[in-house]
Amino acid sequence: MDLFNKTSVLFVCLGNICRSPAAEGILKQMAKQKGILQNLLIDSAGIGSWHAGQLPDRRMRICGEKNGYDFSSVARQLNKRDFERFDYIIVMDEDNYRDVRLRCPNSEYLKKIHKIKEYFTKYKNYQTVPDPYYGSMDDFQLAINLLEDACSTFLLRLSNS
Ligand code: 4NP
Repeated sequence: MDLFNKTSVLFVCLGNICRSPAAEGILKQMAKQKGILQNLLIDSAGIGSWHAGQLPDRRMRICGEKNGYDFSSVARQLNKRDFERFDYIIVMDEDNYRDVRLRCPNSEYLKKIHKIKEYFTKYKNYQTVPDPYYGSMDDFQLAINLLEDACSTFLLRLSNS
């Protein structure tokens, strides 16, 4: 919860230009459609700082547009305050999970760190959102499909809790 009693969600991937900004954009749009966007604080961050200040990768923005999304967040690096600020820190793969746990400043906050696979319903056979950065447009589309599945499950669980 933040100051305004919003449930807060931070998506984390390696660079914050492909998977986590897509997750942020998808969850924001789904929450808006349900009329609950004002109850949530939704953000994303990267393990690394290489792309800080940049818009999402052009291929992800194009793929997002094709699917009816506007991915336009500005990349930033995960920082220690994020662990206090956010209720849910959701990572895309096992490397992210390890790296986020290593950066966690207080063992109390470890329970906030969740793997995206916890929220797969249709795609239960997947363990991660594979990094599309060195892949094809099909890999970007797969990332969006997986993130749509996870975001809709996340919102459903939130509304049932
Ligand atoms: P992301 O993808 O973690 O989904 O944002 C990547 C973006 C950039 C790099 C790797 C993955 N990179 O090596 O620069």
